[in-house]
Amino acid sequence: MEKSRTSCDWRPETIVLHGGFDGDPATKAVAVPIYQTVAYGFDNAEHAAALFNLETEGFRYSRIANPTTDVLEQRLAALEGGAAAVCVSSGQAALMYAALNVSRPGGNIVSVPQLYGTTYTLFAHMLPTFGVTVRFASDDSAASMAALVDENTCALYCESVGNPAGNICDLAALAEVSRAKALPLIVDNTVATPVLLRPIEHGAHIVVHSLTKYIGGHGTTLGGAIVDAGTFPWTAHRARFPMFNEPDRSYHGIVYAERFGRSAFAARCRNLYLRNTGAALSPMSAFLLMMGLETLPLRVERHVHNARLVAEFLRADPRVRWVNYAGFAEHPHHALAQRYLDGQACALLTFATCGGLEGSCAFYDALRITKRLVNLGDAKTLACHPASTTHRQLSEAELKAAGVTPDMIRLSVGIEHIDDIIADLDQALAAAAAVPGAKSAARSAA
Ligand SMILES: Cc1ncc(COP(=O)(O)O)c(C=O)c1O
Repeated sequence: MEKSRTSCDWRPETIVLHGGFDGDPATKAVAVPIYQTVAYGFDNAEHAAALFNLETEGFRYSRIANPTTDVLEQRLAALEGGAAAVCVSSGQAALMYAALNVSRPGGNIVSVPQLYGTTYTLFAHMLPTFGVTVRFASDDSAASMAALVDENTCALYCESVGNPAGNICDLAALAEVSRAKALPLIVDNTVATPVLLRPIEHGAHIVVHSLTKYIGGHGTTLGGAIVDAGTFPWTAHRARFPMFNEPDRSYHGIVYAERFGRSAFAARCRNLYLRNTGAALSPMSAFLLMMGLETLPLRVERHVHNARLVAEFLRADPRVRWVNYAGFAEHPHHALAQRYLDGQACALLTFATCGGLEGSCAFYDALRITKRLVNLGDAKTLACHPASTTHRQLSEAELKAAGVTPDMIRLSVGIEHIDDIIADLDQALAAAAAVPGAKSAARSAA
């Protein structure tokens, strides 16, 4: 919840295990209890009123806040270096709330074009029905983004590492545009995770996550989070952001920037969007996501290590036409990987076989250990064909802008033994090479 906290100078490996919880005061339970309750008792009418006036800290109703979820929120805020976090039921809910929280009818958001498919459809087709348009830049450069900003722009939006494009945004350059234009920068940090990249350190104001992916890490639980850096000066831009500076009639005239200061964005997300529209994370889900979070730094290390070995295997194989992996020195975003990902690359990579769409489909169908599905960040290795699934609703031009080709296979490299992952890919490449026409392509590429 949006309460005053002492700053956390622990390292990520410690935050994920100890942040926000030092044993249950009632029972001394060491694991965070699952507070499977809808409501919380009030001492008396005065106490209830003080809670509902947001004058005192405490829990009212689990649609708004829950003690199990609260620990997860504290851990995520500390991991990302933010002032507060709000957890919700999915990544999509997180970015919907973040986008609505900062915009008003008639406003617009300027976004990079390389987005997860459902984010694209939310932005291109659904937000406009709320009176908010999204302007897609021609690429992820600061200049292209700045060119689309006008007096009605409410925010800049990007994925720190695009899914599935694999582009790495120059966050410091985008933050510079956001400073110059007095706009918050919202960053989806799902693919990178806070282990590899902390966007707030590079000037982002709001970070959103699908917790469903690496943070949960086991493909069992949906969840999302909005982290408020606490750094955007809402009060300095009253006309553009009246929602933080003027009394909220739906909440007996509260002025969020005055009442919550650095946590105004998170507090408004919680007390307006979560309270009124209710995409709440269940306490059981918060618990499961925390189990995943505890091992995130360890898992990411292995994911990243295995991804490099898979990328090198694919690059060396004549049955593969191309590999998109920012860890390669020749990759156009390699320098950005050096700068933002500490010289590493994420565990999500894309490639195509020499047999074109048919070859990639044959590869896909032949996978044995690697799962065919639409998810990423699971401990298991996962494969997806974006053009026919996650990005199916996009037109040809939209697919091109999003960095998706018809023959593209996206791999989310897992933490199995690397020899077993590569053996599976190897046998599936043999199936791709058996497709008529693929062999000659393979020969000419070799
Ligand atoms: C980058 C990114 N953001 C957001 C989402 C949406 O997350 P969820 O499935 O938890 O709603 C996804 C899902 O794949 C994603 O890849």
